[in-house]
Amino acid sequence: MADSRNISDHWGTGDVYGRIVETMKAAGIDPDTVTIEQLAPVDHFHARGFPATQDLAEALPFREGQRIVDIGSGIGGPARYLARRFGCQVEGIDITAPFVDAANRLTDLVGMTGHVACVHGDGQALPFEDERFDGGYSQHVTMNVPDRAGFFGEAFRVLKPGAFFAITEHGLGPAGDPHHPLPWSEDGSGAYLMTPSDTVSLLSGAGFTEIEVTDTGDKYLEGYNKAIELAENGQVPVFGVHILLGRQAPQIVRNAARNIAERRTHPVQIVCRKPV
Ligand SMILES: C[S@@+](CC[C@H](N)C(=O)[O-])C[C@H]1O[C@@H](n2cnc3c(N)ncnc32)[C@H](O)[C@@H]1O
Repeated sequence: MADSRNISDHWGTGDVYGRIVETMKAAGIDPDTVTIEQLAPVDHFHARGFPATQDLAEALPFREGQRIVDIGSGIGGPARYLARRFGCQVEGIDITAPFVDAANRLTDLVGMTGHVACVHGDGQALPFEDERFDGGYSQHVTMNVPDRAGFFGEAFRVLKPGAFFAITEHGLGPAGDPHHPLPWSEDGSGAYLMTPSDTVSLLSGAGFTEIEVTDTGDKYLEGYNKAIELAENGQVPVFGVHILLGRQAPQIVRNAARNIAERRTHPVQIVCRKPV
């Protein structure tokens, strides 16, 4: 529990929603008319941001009317995008209460209440009944999960037979410990990186089949290098993920890139299925 609180505090404390709205206004975006496209530079809060969510959308068989679970839903950008694009219902869960509050208020702001709903909780003990969902995903969450077998077991439990599941994450690379700070940990505490092959074994152990791993390191590196170049040229956009990453954002981005280049991390997208 102490670890859960530390992980949650690491991600977000205080009035996250208020900070997002203030920065929105500073960037010239009117909160009364804001669109999910305008929110995208901030609310797809993972490596490569919105383009990575689009890649995930292409990799999974989302359909209209499906009920989908987003484990570690953050401030809800991916959930809103997928619900809008595919006409599905997305239920998010996140361990960071200020993110859940921001997610639901942003959903309200863009008029999507009823299509997306987020609750506070831990992916290692999901507050959902068995076989509730047609599909699920967890983008950039598992780096913080100590009981990965339990986390995958819970995902498996709440999915219907035949449902799809996917994760994206920074796996552990072969070249030794990553440099910190990183988005998920300031100094290595609360970080539980695992090699992609160990993750595949745990997914398989939880019962998932048709497991497909795609390396995403080159794409992430390109995204991080673009962000570094903008920062070096003094062109950081006003409305960007640095609002959520905090004052260490420039160092975090440099380390994330360096870790991939030095093979200390091994970013992947993994898709799989619960057998029928
Ligand atoms: C990098 S953010 C990704 C947010 C969102 N998935 C996205 O892509 O925009 C990582 C998120 O994982 C959440 N998280 C970490 N451990 C968790 C757990 N055990 N259960 C649920 N959420 C968790 C954090 O609170 C944070 O919102």
